[in-house]
Amino acid sequence: MNHLNSINNPKAELHIHLEGSLEPQMILNLAKRNNIQIKYSSLAEFAKAYQFKNLQEFLDLYYLGMSVLKTENDYFDLTYAYLTRAHQDNVTHSEMFFDPQAHLERGVSLDIMMSGLWRAIVQAKADYGINGSLIPCFLRHLSENNALSVFDDLMNYRDKIIGIGLDSSELGNPPAKFKNLFNLARKEQLKLLAHAGEEGPVSYVWDALDILGVDRIDHGNAILSDQALIKRIATDKITLTMCPLSNRCLQVVPDLSKHQAIELLNHDVCVTINSDDPAYFGGYINQNYVELATALNLTDAEINKLIENSLTAKFV
Ligand code: HPA
Ligand code: ZN
Repeated sequence: MNHLNSINNPKAELHIHLEGSLEPQMILNLAKRNNIQIKYSSLAEFAKAYQFKNLQEFLDLYYLGMSVLKTENDYFDLTYAYLTRAHQDNVTHSEMFFDPQAHLERGVSLDIMMSGLWRAIVQAKADYGINGSLIPCFLRHLSENNALSVFDDLMNYRDKIIGIGLDSSELGNPPAKFKNLFNLARKEQLKLLAHAGEEGPVSYVWDALDILGVDRIDHGNAILSDQALIKRIATDKITLTMCPLSNRCLQVVPDLSKHQAIELLNHDVCVTINSDDPAYFGGYINQNYVELATALNLTDAEINKLIENSLTAKFV
């Protein structure tokens, strides 16, 4: 198989949580720099801990990992390291998620977060020509009132964000819970996204479309079981930002040969391939392409279509 040429073509990454690109080595370095005690003290201990049965087991460690982020420099280092790594995979545009509430809860201000993230975007653009954009995600396990208050503060940085998303624990936290938030964001002409159909049922995907009016669905694995929904998503040209290695790690699929991406692509759905939380799931974006291509024996045409979709579906 010689897919490596097409996999290395210029591409966009549309589903990456910056906090999920925090490598264990950087967690250790930042813990030391900020004088923070953490549960794991070596790379071997991290490797042993990073085995997940489901989304929640991952999220528990993801929130623990990001607790070492404190200063403007920390947010700069995190973002600059990710953009450097993405550039190596020939990513030309990255629309990056971050979780403001998870940092505010620990006493880090929006000002510190936004300054560090933005400075890294400017620096990486100057150094590599890569285009980075920011999409704050709201934690669906928290209340809508909390989201509304953070949204209000985020509007002080309106020019630095392109949209909003919805992430964290899906089951039991349906899209309808955030209807008012999404209505407000629509008025601000922000792009609207939601994680849906990763662990949750197809009804959550329908609701993300019908109640929240999202422009893109993050994951959407469950869609394949609902013909009417596939048709709706294909007709309305709703992009799915799928993440194969994440799905395997969190046991959304038993192995990559069962991944839904190519069947959905063959149903005319605008599927894209992304890394989600690469420091936790064993690979950055090109590794997601390589392993999916190997497991499903993808043709160059299929790989090129996935890459082309990423460039058509980017907001910026
Ligand atoms: N799903 C939900 N929330 C998340 C994820 C995910 O895959 N990654 C980071 N936060
Ligand atoms: Zn995600």
